[in-house]
Amino acid sequence: MAITIKSQREIELMTRAGEVLAIVHEELGKFIRPGLSTLDIDKKGEEIIRSFDGCTPSFLNYNGYPASICVSVNEAVVHGIPRDYYYIKEGDIVSLDAGVCYKGYHSDAARTWPVGEVSDEAKRLMKVTEECFFEGIRYAEAGRHLNEISKAIEAKAVENGFSIIRDYIGHGIGSTVHEAPEIPNFARIARGPRLTPGMTLAIEPMLSAGDYRVARLADNWTAVTVDGSLTSHYENTILITEGKPVILSLKS
Ligand code: MF3
Ligand code: CO
Repeated sequence: MAITIKSQREIELMTRAGEVLAIVHEELGKFIRPGLSTLDIDKKGEEIIRSFDGCTPSFLNYNGYPASICVSVNEAVVHGIPRDYYYIKEGDIVSLDAGVCYKGYHSDAARTWPVGEVSDEAKRLMKVTEECFFEGIRYAEAGRHLNEISKAIEAKAVENGFSIIRDYIGHGIGSTVHEAPEIPNFARIARGPRLTPGMTLAIEPMLSAGDYRVARLADNWTAVTVDGSLTSHYENTILITEGKPVILSLKS
């Protein structure tokens, strides 16, 4: 599939979807605490999303995904299915990945939150993951090529001694959650497509403090590092413009 260029109207809808998602993450960040089940977090997230007129959770039933929020704890990288029997505790780092659909258009963003006091390594991993995103989008400019974003993300992670998850990647986004292009968080040989104003992309570095290899749990969704190492995830939906990219899922 070709990469879609959004019209002004589509950009407006995605801007709203992103704005709501920024609030969802902000609220969930305040809500999260030891003793909650991952399903409690999902329910709260779904409630916040639906409290906004015309907004629904993008992930619910997407490819059969059974919840509104992906809740991935510690060695779980992405797509953690919320469970009423899985309780978060002090010292955990919890990645929350969510999407909002507004009038047929989606936003997609992830944050990783510390639960109470966490290890220095966990803090550094979360910080560097976020830095990888911001390093990547320095190259998210019209006229550059996609591989420049990927390369910058990888370099930042590696120079900090972390590894990049390779089995899950960023993507274009619009009237479906996943569109072309694929956006790996590591450099490839090909320079990739040329960035053009009106492209909307979900850039989502996922880092491991140990080995990057992952496996899926028996639930067929939850991806965990094979060596059990800690992971972090940070994602935003961005818009390519004539100038600097606009981060749609972050409050300005
Ligand atoms: N942000 C997630 C991703 O890009 C979206 C997952 S949707 C789900 O993979 F339904 F698969 F959870
Ligand atoms: Co995504």
